[in-house]
Amino acid sequence: MKKILVTGGAGFIGSHLTEALLQRGDHVTVIDDESTGAQVNLADVCRHPLFSWVSGSADDRRTIDALLDDIDEVYHLASAVGVALVASRPIEAIQRILQPNHVVLAALQQRQERLPSRPVRFFLASSSEVYGKNPSESWPEGADLIFGPTHCARWSYGASKAIDEFMALAYWRQYQLPVVIGRFFNVVGPRQRGDYGMVLPRLIDAAKRGGPLTVHDDGHQVRCFAHVRDVVAQVLQLMESPQAVGQVFNMGSDQPISILELARQVADHFTPVPAIQFQAYAEAYDADFEDVRRRVPDLSRLRATIDYRPQYDLPAIIRELVEQGTSTTDTRSTDASE
Ligand SMILES: NC(=O)c1ccc[n+]([C@@H]2O[C@H](COP(=O)([O-])OP(=O)(O)OC[C@H]3O[C@@H](n4cnc5c(N)ncnc54)[C@H](O)[C@@H]3O)[C@@H](O)[C@H]2O)c1
Repeated sequence: MKKILVTGGAGFIGSHLTEALLQRGDHVTVIDDESTGAQVNLADVCRHPLFSWVSGSADDRRTIDALLDDIDEVYHLASAVGVALVASRPIEAIQRILQPNHVVLAALQQRQERLPSRPVRFFLASSSEVYGKNPSESWPEGADLIFGPTHCARWSYGASKAIDEFMALAYWRQYQLPVVIGRFFNVVGPRQRGDYGMVLPRLIDAAKRGGPLTVHDDGHQVRCFAHVRDVVAQVLQLMESPQAVGQVFNMGSDQPISILELARQVADHFTPVPAIQFQAYAEAYDADFEDVRRRVPDLSRLRATIDYRPQYDLPAIIRELVEQGTSTTDTRSTDASE
């Protein structure tokens, strides 16, 4: 049995990760400030004998020091999430991405000095947003990061996530802290909210209200969607792999689909079939808004490192979400983001 700390464990991905770790027989402590997540996401496991809950922020050094005392692995997911949040609350979003990451890494390094025989492996949840607007067909991990200008707030999300990666890799190089970095592409599934810029729950919610389904721009933006349980399985395998330490991995699915086709597939589940309408980015956001047209990962490195076997294709994902519902509370969103 391992002792695990999950920051941001009350969120969408963190709650699925927590369930999987408990199912594996590990002891899991979650720290979350419920800024975008909620304890209700952990309702199925909150009474599990191996589960502990800490209400608080992952940038509180004293709390983190106390939690790291007796821990084997850290999964760091606490972060501001989604381009829509960055656009509406940019200062908070940047701080929420940078500060907890640095606090946890610094605390881990100090712990390693005290207990050099018990290194703690650290997983950083990064994002495909770090590639910015790189125009390549697909992105290997070594691809250049190409951001737009700083007056365009959306790039601060990817740039801040990139700084998190630089920082984690610096701790690996300077102190041999065993870090593993996963760049999540679009992750979808139960408990994902639509109000922080997530396209699939937003489309499904709109369809449930009878439509119309709003697609931004011409709908020809391309994305790849992976089920959260498949992504969690990838994370768990990576953290078991000695080769993964000190490396960055694209994670998720590499099966591309346009947002317009995604909207059509969602609409087809409903009778009568809801209409699809188009909205310019300038209207949805602001005149400065820049999008990423194509976002497809090269998963060669992931495939070479783990046994990559996704269990869910997109039709199965949409079917599950249409049947189960989502927890979307707002309709403002973007298919530009995650
Ligand atoms: N969902 C995706 O498609 C996707 C894509 C790329 C990257 N990611 C990354 O994966 C991670 C999880 O994302 P998610 O989709 O589950 O989002 P989420 O908003 O559901 O989860 C983030 C969790 O972190 C918590 N949190 C935020 N700041 C905190 C702090 N300072 N202290 C403690 N808790 C804090 C939130 O309350 C929330 O529970 C994030 O790091 C995100 O950047 C997600």
